[in-house]
Amino acid sequence: MNFQLHNYQPDTEDLKTVVIKGLQHSPKQLHPKFFYDEIGSKLFDQICQQPEYYIPTVEQEIFAQYADEMIECISSNCVIIEPGAGSTKKIRFLLERMQKNLPTMYVPMDISAEHLQRSAQQLANDYPELSVHAVCVDHTKPFQLPDEIPAHRRVLFYPGSSLGNFKPHEAIDFLQELRNQGGDDSALLIGIDTKKDSDVLNHAYNDAAEVTAAFNLNLLTRINSELGTKIAVDRFAHHAFYNKAKSRIEMHLVSKQEQTLHILQHEFHFDAGETIHTENSYKYSVNEFQTLVTKAGWVCDHVWLDDKHYFGVYFLRAAK
Ligand code: AVJ
Repeated sequence: MNFQLHNYQPDTEDLKTVVIKGLQHSPKQLHPKFFYDEIGSKLFDQICQQPEYYIPTVEQEIFAQYADEMIECISSNCVIIEPGAGSTKKIRFLLERMQKNLPTMYVPMDISAEHLQRSAQQLANDYPELSVHAVCVDHTKPFQLPDEIPAHRRVLFYPGSSLGNFKPHEAIDFLQELRNQGGDDSALLIGIDTKKDSDVLNHAYNDAAEVTAAFNLNLLTRINSELGTKIAVDRFAHHAFYNKAKSRIEMHLVSKQEQTLHILQHEFHFDAGETIHTENSYKYSVNEFQTLVTKAGWVCDHVWLDDKHYFGVYFLRAAK
C-alpha cells in the first residue's frame, strides 16, 4: 500500500462559532475555507472548467512549457508537500515529467476529507512507486504533518493562486509558517494570479454558466445543512467584482431584501442590499510578489509567466 490518509480535521464546532462571529462582525463576513464542503469542492472543480476562469488553463500552459526547468530546480530525493491540494490535478504535471525520479513522498493536504481521500487515492493508484500521505487538515491554521515524512528536502507546492485568499500581511505570515515547516533547505513552488484588465477579472468570477454563483451560494446551503438553520438561499445573490484600489476580487452574498436570519438563538438583521463578504482574491504584479515573499524569508530563483502575463509560477528558496 502506497497510500495513507491522516485525518487531523478540527471538530465542526468551528463552523458554528465562525458563522456567528462572522455575522456579528461589521461588515458581515465569512471565511472562504468554508466553501469547501463535499459539494463546494466539486463546484470548485467545475469552476476550473469554465472558459472565463482562465487560471487553471494558463497555469497548466506554464507547467506544460516549463515543467522540465521546474523539476531541475526541485531536484530529486525530496518530499513534496501541497497545502490545499483539492483534486491533486496539478502535481500530475510535474510527476508526468519526473518519470523515474519521483519524489520520495507526496503529501497532499486539504480541508475536505472525502474529496481529498478520493483524489489522493487515485493518484497513488496511478503512481504505484510513489508514497502518498494525504493529510486532512485546515492549512490556514498552524498544522501538523505526519511522522512518516522522511528527512529529505521539503518542497512545498502551492499552485492555483490559493495564496490570493490571504490579505497581504496574512500572506507574509503564512509564507513564513511554510518556511518554518519546510526548514533551512526547503523550497516553495507557488502560483499566483497577476493584475490584469478589470473586464477579464470580472468575467472570471462571473461565469456565464453561473457556477461561481452556485459555489458562493452553496455556503448558505452548507450552513443550513450543518447547523440546521432555515436560511432562504434564494433571498441572496452572488456578487463579485474587481476592487482595483485594493488589487483584489471581492465576492459577496447580497441580501435581495430586508430580512432577519435566525441562527442558533441569534438573530441577524440584513438591510436590502447588505452583503456578507465571503472571499478576497488578491492579484500581484511580479515586483509586488517578489517584495512580499522576500519579507517572508524566501529568495526568488525563478519566475515563469505565460505570454499574456496572466499568471506567474515562482520558484522560491528558503533564505539563510
Ligand atoms: C482557490 C482561492 C485560487 O480566488 O480564484 C474561484 C477561488 N473563488 N472562483 C480564486 C475562487 C471563485 C480561487 N482560489
